[in-house]
Amino acid sequence: MKSALIVYGTRTGTAAATAQEIAEEFQRLGVEVKVADAKKEKVESIDQYDLVVVGSGIQMGKWTGEADSFLKRFRKELKEKSVALYVNCGSAAEAMNVGKPEVAANAREKYLEEKAARHGLTPVALGFFGAIYDFNRMPWIMRKGMEHERPKLAAAYRETAPGVYDTRDLEGIKAWARGLVG
Ligand SMILES: Cc1cc2nc3c(=O)[nH]c(=O)nc-3n(C[C@H](O)[C@H](O)[C@H](O)COP(=O)(O)O)c2cc1C
Repeated sequence: MKSALIVYGTRTGTAAATAQEIAEEFQRLGVEVKVADAKKEKVESIDQYDLVVVGSGIQMGKWTGEADSFLKRFRKELKEKSVALYVNCGSAAEAMNVGKPEVAANAREKYLEEKAARHGLTPVALGFFGAIYDFNRMPWIMRKGMEHERPKLAAAYRETAPGVYDTRDLEGIKAWARGLVG
């Protein structure tokens, strides 16, 4: 694999940070990589890439419109390519759902497997990654709901800035990226 495109849609930056981590791992392994924010940059063609990775953050059970639009726009071409999908979502934060494995299982099915099927894709890999919770920026109604979860977040995950908890497994993301190159 010589070249890869990573396209992402994000609302609060998590899928963008994840795209960067995947890109760094690709570059480290000698793969030429282009990263595109689907909202800011219109990808004109995917012909030149050996692999296309499409990712999105999840809110209210939904991908971002722009990442979804990318899948629709290149539906035909993507069927002929190696494609990988990933999501960043709260349901993947295991320590927040202890004893409730169905939360992650259902989310993986809905956000990744059903999404791929709906676009007629058979991805080479599905990446189910955690969330970044930013208490400074989340809607107040969500902050109210999440406040009682905050000690659990603080105990289990990195607080990368005051009130910002990163539940992603960075090593897991890098290992996933390596698997795509291998
Ligand atoms: C308003 C709001 C709604 C959310 N809804 C969901 C959801 O339905 N399912 C889920 O697993 N995570 C949900 N989350 C957690 C996000 O997926 C998480 O914050 C993720 O990091 C967002 O990715 P992004 O920054 O790339 O958009 C929600 C977060 C917010 C702020």
